[in-house]
Amino acid sequence: MVSQNNPFKYSHIVTGSSFCNRGEEQRTLLQCIKNSQNVLIYSHRRTGKSSLIKQVFENIRQQHLDIGMMYVDLYGTTSEKDFITRGFQQIGALESSMDKLFHIMKKSLQFLPARIGLDPVTFLPTLTPEFQIVDKALPLKTLMDLLERFSRDRKLVIVFDEFQEIDNYTEADAFEKRLRSFIQQHERISYIFSGSQKHMLTAMFHSQNRAFYQQAATLTLKEIQKKDYIPWLADRFAAALHSVPQEHLPAIVEQFEGHPMYIQFFCFFLWEKLRETPWHDGLPQEVESMMINEKQLEYQMLWDNLTGNQKKTLKLVLANDGKNLFTGEALQQAEIKTASIVTQCLKALCEKQILVKNSRYIIQDVLLRKWLEHNS
Ligand SMILES: Nc1ncnc2c1ncn2[C@@H]1O[C@H](COP(=O)(O)OP(=O)(O)OP(=O)(O)O)[C@@H](O)[C@H]1O
Ligand SMILES: [Mg+2]
Repeated sequence: MVSQNNPFKYSHIVTGSSFCNRGEEQRTLLQCIKNSQNVLIYSHRRTGKSSLIKQVFENIRQQHLDIGMMYVDLYGTTSEKDFITRGFQQIGALESSMDKLFHIMKKSLQFLPARIGLDPVTFLPTLTPEFQIVDKALPLKTLMDLLERFSRDRKLVIVFDEFQEIDNYTEADAFEKRLRSFIQQHERISYIFSGSQKHMLTAMFHSQNRAFYQQAATLTLKEIQKKDYIPWLADRFAAALHSVPQEHLPAIVEQFEGHPMYIQFFCFFLWEKLRETPWHDGLPQEVESMMINEKQLEYQMLWDNLTGNQKKTLKLVLANDGKNLFTGEALQQAEIKTASIVTQCLKALCEKQILVKNSRYIIQDVLLRKWLEHNS
C-alpha cells in the first residue's frame, strides 16, 4: 500500500521503526543496565546516542523488565543548581503510583525545604528545592538519596545525557567528586553518562586524577553499517509514491558516509521529491543541493564567526584531507604565515566542535564539508 506519510525523521530522537539496527549496542547496553553497571556513551554529534538510549528504554518496557528508568537531559545546564533541578524534574518517572510518589517526596521534604509541583508536560509530580539554604550540599544529597531509596524496590537506570556540560559548572571539580561519592555507593543503579565532546569526557573518565576515573564501561557509537542500512531503507521506501531502484541504495549510504542524521535528512527530502517525480540519475545531487540550501544560513553564520586564520585553516584541512598540515608547501598554499598559527586555529576549531582529531583532522559535519567544497 502507498503511504503519504514521510517515514524519515531528522530532527528528533528516533525509536521503533524509525530506528535502524544497532542491535549489538542495544544488547550491550541492556546487559550493563541489568548488571547495574555504569556506562559512558560517546560519539560525534548526531550519531544516535539519545536515540539508542530511548530505544533501550523501549525494549525494557516491551520486555516488561522490572527496571525503573529516568532520563535527565543536561543540555544547557550551567550549574549544580540546574543539574539538581533537572534531576528532580524527572523523579516522577520512577514511580507509577502517585500516592507512593507523593509519600516518598514528602519524606524527603523533612530534610530539604522544597515545593512539590506538577510538570506541565508529563503531569508528573516534581520537587523544586529552596537553594538558599545554609547547607549547600543538601540538595544534591537529597536527590541522590532519593534515587537510592527508589532503587531498593527495583533496579534503576539513570541517564545523564550531555554529561560533558558538568565540566563547565562553577567548582566543577568539587561537584564531580561529590556526585561520584554517591554514585559509587548505588549498587542497584546503572548510571549512563552520554555526550559528544570526546576530549572532555575522556579527561573526566580516563584521567587518574579525576573523580570519574574508571567509573564506567565505555561504549563508542560508530556509523551504522551499510549492510544494515540497505534493508531498512528498502523497507521504508517500499511505501513511497515512486520507488527507489534497489541498486541505488548503497550509494545513498555512501553519499553521507553512513551518518545516521544526514541519511534520514537526505531520505526525508528524497521521499518528498518522489511524490512529484520518478527516480532519475540526477536526483541524489538535486536532493543534496536542497539540503545544502536548507543549511545555507546556519553555515554562513558559522563561517562569518570564524577569524581569517581559522577560515584559512579550515580550507587547509579540506585541501589536504586533514593530513600533513604543517609542511612549508601546505602553509604556502593556504597563505598562513607560521605553523604555530595552524596549531592555534586547529585547537580553536576542535573546541568549537567543527573539527575532530583522530589520526587526521576531520570536518565533523558531513554537510558542512560539502558546503565548504561548494563555497571555497
Ligand atoms: N539508529 C538509528 N537509525 C536511523 N536514524 C538514526 C538512528 N540514530 C539516530 N538517527 C538519526 O540521527 C538523528 C540524531 O539522533 P540523536 O539525537 O539520537 O543523536 P545524538 O547522538 O544524541 O545527537 P546529539 O549529539 O545532538 O545529542 C535522529 O534524528 C535520526 O535522524
Ligand atoms: Mg543526544
